[in-house]
Amino acid sequence: MSRHAGPPSRSEEHLPTADELADFLSGQRWFSGRGGPVEVVEVRTLARLHEDPVVEVLLVTARPADGVEARYQVVVECPSGPTERLDHVRIGAGDCYDGLHDREVTHLWPALMLAEASVGDIAFHHVPDAGPQQIPTDRPSLVLTGEQSNTTLAYGDAMALKVYRQVAPGVNPDIEVHLALHSVGCPHIATPLGWADSPDGVLAFLQEFLVGGTEGWESAQASVRDLFVEADLHPSDVGSDFAAEAERLGRVTAEMHASLREALPTSVLEPEQVAARVAAMQANLAEAVREVPALEPHAAGLERAYADLLALARGGQKVDVQRVHGDFHLGQTLRTPAGWKVLDFEGEPARPADERRALDTPLRDVAGLLRSLDYAARLVLLDHPDDPQRAYRAAEWVEHNSDAFCTGYAAAAGRDPREDEVLLRALLTQKAVYEVVYEARMRPSWVVLPLAAVERLAA
Ligand SMILES: Nc1ncnc2c1ncn2[C@@H]1O[C@H](COP(=O)(O)OP(=O)(O)O)[C@@H](O)[C@H]1O
Ligand SMILES: [Mg+2]
Repeated sequence: MSRHAGPPSRSEEHLPTADELADFLSGQRWFSGRGGPVEVVEVRTLARLHEDPVVEVLLVTARPADGVEARYQVVVECPSGPTERLDHVRIGAGDCYDGLHDREVTHLWPALMLAEASVGDIAFHHVPDAGPQQIPTDRPSLVLTGEQSNTTLAYGDAMALKVYRQVAPGVNPDIEVHLALHSVGCPHIATPLGWADSPDGVLAFLQEFLVGGTEGWESAQASVRDLFVEADLHPSDVGSDFAAEAERLGRVTAEMHASLREALPTSVLEPEQVAARVAAMQANLAEAVREVPALEPHAAGLERAYADLLALARGGQKVDVQRVHGDFHLGQTLRTPAGWKVLDFEGEPARPADERRALDTPLRDVAGLLRSLDYAARLVLLDHPDDPQRAYRAAEWVEHNSDAFCTGYAAAAGRDPREDEVLLRALLTQKAVYEVVYEARMRPSWVVLPLAAVERLAA
């Protein structure tokens, strides 16, 4: 393991050791390893942001026992002695802590962005139209909790700072797409304010905080739960009917797609390119069946969705492509008093960075959201196994809200996604197969959720 080129600095001996960092990483929900020993291969200081207390941004290259080596951003704060208020985020046996949890130092990020400062290997930036008004430096921060692959801090109700955990060189699509959408005045995103980058990759992204937001995922689940409380009602009869929201979200999605077309490149896939993509879907299915035997009985049925698309391609079908969200689901949406907002344009986490920026059909996002509605309902059903009545009503809820979403999308886009039935079904199939593999690996008790969809799609 190597650390810090050059002579050791004053408080170097304070910094956590590689083993301590390995311990810390293995306990973080954003760390990709799933248990087992973690090996830290390299630790590098990107910048020392502050002297007393010492605040350093570290790039930690780590290899989980069962995973792929990656680089992680860790912000360590080492005050001159034990600091009780940070005891819950201690790193190692010395007096070092996870600095993102200390509101005494987190003002450094907005302040350095406002100043467009360069520190060590990190360059801080703000968007041209953001000044001290939009980027206040006196707001206390709080780390948001949640099922996150990164760490997001809220500075009062003024700003949200997303600190990327896995760092890789190249364009960060989250920031790229936010800036592009902002430049064409798309109202459906949080206004970007600033960012921090380094030659090793983008480290942090500052945005407007979306005040009063409720995650689409929460509202959808609440609606399904309410439906189950009222034994005899249909989805449209219960007080928390989600359909009006689903329809508005459909409109917002279509408008977001239009803004993406305006701001970023578009293209057309020729029939042979469509066929090549179908071939990739087919290969993917074969691989998934090998990994998850529960897919085997449905393989032939699923294959039909791809064969139908292949037949269209052979008949000369082209497909319009553009930049898309890429990882669109209810958890990436916030319902605010100012309407639905879309978050997190990083793309599908499982895909390599350059593939995430590839042009794709906007129906990819439509399929993602439709699958998410299905997940929301099926997840609530998990609490009621062997209850055909509830299963029927959950399916009714999904259909009702999927229709509403597509109707809203059609109203804004001028074309109903359901008209592209073959393409949409292939994309839904691809997504459901991906979900089965993901759940089988990560959350086996949830594999029944996408398997139910697989059964339906294959029928
Ligand atoms: N600008 C914002 N305003 C308010 N809350 C936000 C904002 N950005 C993110 N969040 C909250 O943080 C969560 C995670 O953000 P996201 O960008 O999706 O990060 P991740 O890559 O970790 O999924 C969101 O689901 C949302 O609840
Ligand atoms: Mg997200």
